[in-house]
Amino acid sequence: MSYLDAQDWGFPVSIAYGPGRLSQIAGFCATAGMARPLIVTDRGSAGLPFIGALKDHLSAAGMASGLYSDISPNPRDDEIAAGCAHYRTGGHDGIIAIGGGSGMDGGKAIALTATNTIDLWAFEYEQDPPAMVDHPAFPPLICIPTTAGTGAETDSTAMITDTARMMKWCIWHPDLKPAFAILDPQVTLGLPATLTAWTGADAMVHAIEAYCVPATHPLCDGAALEGLRLVSRWLPVAVREPDDVEARGAMLTGSCLAGIAFRKGLGLVHAISHMVGAEFDTQHGLTNAILLPAVLRFHAPAIEDRIEPMAQAMGLSDTSFDGFYGRVCAILDEIGIPRTLSDIRVPAECAAGIAEKALQDSAAGTNPRALTAAEVQGVIEDALNFGR
Ligand SMILES: [Fe+2]
Repeated sequence: MSYLDAQDWGFPVSIAYGPGRLSQIAGFCATAGMARPLIVTDRGSAGLPFIGALKDHLSAAGMASGLYSDISPNPRDDEIAAGCAHYRTGGHDGIIAIGGGSGMDGGKAIALTATNTIDLWAFEYEQDPPAMVDHPAFPPLICIPTTAGTGAETDSTAMITDTARMMKWCIWHPDLKPAFAILDPQVTLGLPATLTAWTGADAMVHAIEAYCVPATHPLCDGAALEGLRLVSRWLPVAVREPDDVEARGAMLTGSCLAGIAFRKGLGLVHAISHMVGAEFDTQHGLTNAILLPAVLRFHAPAIEDRIEPMAQAMGLSDTSFDGFYGRVCAILDEIGIPRTLSDIRVPAECAAGIAEKALQDSAAGTNPRALTAAEVQGVIEDALNFGR
């Protein structure tokens, strides 16, 4: 790709940032056209204070709401079907998707299928999106991230496990766009150090993988570098000082920018991680964080021209691959990421099977270099045994 080619660049949704913005939720719902929203979150978040606060803010404004929280860490197609039934029987007219990646992905997947009879897998990313002319409009959607994070708040993509095939697929539709993403750093203050580290590492991986996608997208590339600058600066602070609102806010912003950046695509870290997560239910960001060094070493010659801008964004004086790689590994050490996939009990014999599946993942299609199953198996074995 070059500036001699014609290209199409998209850009996402309205973003409301700031400490305390959750309290304005009723106004955002009204603007989006919701009077009876269904709050969708994951099982782990259902009992956390921000869900209670969200319900209180809505009811204080006289707005009735429902809650569906039967969403796993790796959301499943049967949970999405049950959520759609909940939406219909509850007479809801919009969705507030709140949580980490799983809660928001669950909400977005329910929004894709709650008001139509289209099969969930017809929205699979690699297929032509279904024509919606003969179907009702998607319900209005508001996304609220409670981790920083997945960066899942500005687009309609969702990673869902296909329980028949035990594989994770990306689903989406270009017509489904969140009306608002609300970034409230106060919502993330209670996040434990482990989840702060794992989700923050996911944001770092988004920025790096998106920037290394071999395509020209100046909006995404700029967002990736600023996201990487913020995450590399503030992630260790947020892990160390969980009540630092400035660190939390910078991380939420960096995560959102990295999420915008991966409209351009992702790469091999995510392709492998999606399949490891679907098979062994490992935490997404943690799995990515462990895979990142092995994938960077494998990619080194293919991403040579991408290293200096990333190293500069991270404020490094040594802008060589070794300097960049060393700082990435140091951040992973500082935030307590284990070194190998074996450390999180991913079985050694899975490498060949996961490699075959990873090649089918949409993220493999935007990887900086072509891949063979044997090469991917080698990277997985590297991450299983040697790490960083
Ligand atoms: Fe991710």
